[in-house]
Amino acid sequence: MFHGFANIWTPVIETRQIGRDPVRVDLAGEGVVLFRGEGGRIGALIDRCPHRGVKLSLGKVTADGCLECPFHGWRFAPDGSNRRVPLNPEAKIEQLGATALPTRIMGDMVWVYTAPGREALAEPIAPDGLVAPGLSRTYVTRLWDCHWTRAMENMLDSPHLPFVHRKTIGKSLLRRMTPQSSMDIVWEDTPWGGRASAHLDGLDGGGVLEFFRPNVMALTIPIPNRHFRIHALVMPAGEGKTQLTVVTSRGFLRAGVFDPMFRLSSAKIADEDKAVVESSPKGAVPPSGDERSVKTDRATLQFRKYYHDVLAASAA
Ligand code: FES
Ligand SMILES: [Fe+2]
Repeated sequence: MFHGFANIWTPVIETRQIGRDPVRVDLAGEGVVLFRGEGGRIGALIDRCPHRGVKLSLGKVTADGCLECPFHGWRFAPDGSNRRVPLNPEAKIEQLGATALPTRIMGDMVWVYTAPGREALAEPIAPDGLVAPGLSRTYVTRLWDCHWTRAMENMLDSPHLPFVHRKTIGKSLLRRMTPQSSMDIVWEDTPWGGRASAHLDGLDGGGVLEFFRPNVMALTIPIPNRHFRIHALVMPAGEGKTQLTVVTSRGFLRAGVFDPMFRLSSAKIADEDKAVVESSPKGAVPPSGDERSVKTDRATLQFRKYYHDVLAASAA
């Protein structure tokens, strides 16, 4: 299970999207059903009933906070334990549980750990912008036809900004660029991934990208004395499908009336990337030595090395 994406924490969905009904998400080739059970606790189960394999997401959440399978009515708690097998009072329910995945609520999102039926080896680490109090956040989600690694490295790639995003986040770089310009990417390892800053002709000011392994990017937009960040959460969904969530966090213009404006700009940036990224070769990014690379590919090559050294062969 979870080939190439095992044993990791990933943000999956906004908490507020999980209401009375179960919600199915596709995560790295597996169906996962999320529901709100006992005490408001959110559970994540592999979307397959242990009895006859049907989709639990077609079932319903019962008054006692269990997810009830639509086929024969077995009931599962958020931790996967079986609470009831109708018509079989002698059944050993402790042996008839569903497969649960560890979950955490961080900021406004549910994070899921891709190791079925096991405890997580560590706690998730999220950028400040996603979890700090006193910020307003907006969320925009898109489904792209590409391998998630192509989408992820696009988020770590500064030299595409003045081309793909010439009218949005690449505008100021484009204005300062000359035919002789040179860009240097300074990469610094951090305990959770890395930090990349782009320097055009030796100058600062290109914004700082932070990478949170394996699939979260936070871009700080430099506005004096203001918090403004754009995050990309890149999740492998089904085969060749990637779920991209763009989250903005801001410490100014905090009223909800400004949210549509920030959502609109996130959608615009995401949609600018879409056609280019979807035209990449199918499948995962190749190892660092393949394809032609130059010095401005520093951050994306770091990602490729990490992906091929650590994630590509993983399975749960
Ligand atoms: S298949 Fe789920 S209860 Fe039978
Ligand atoms: Fe982009």
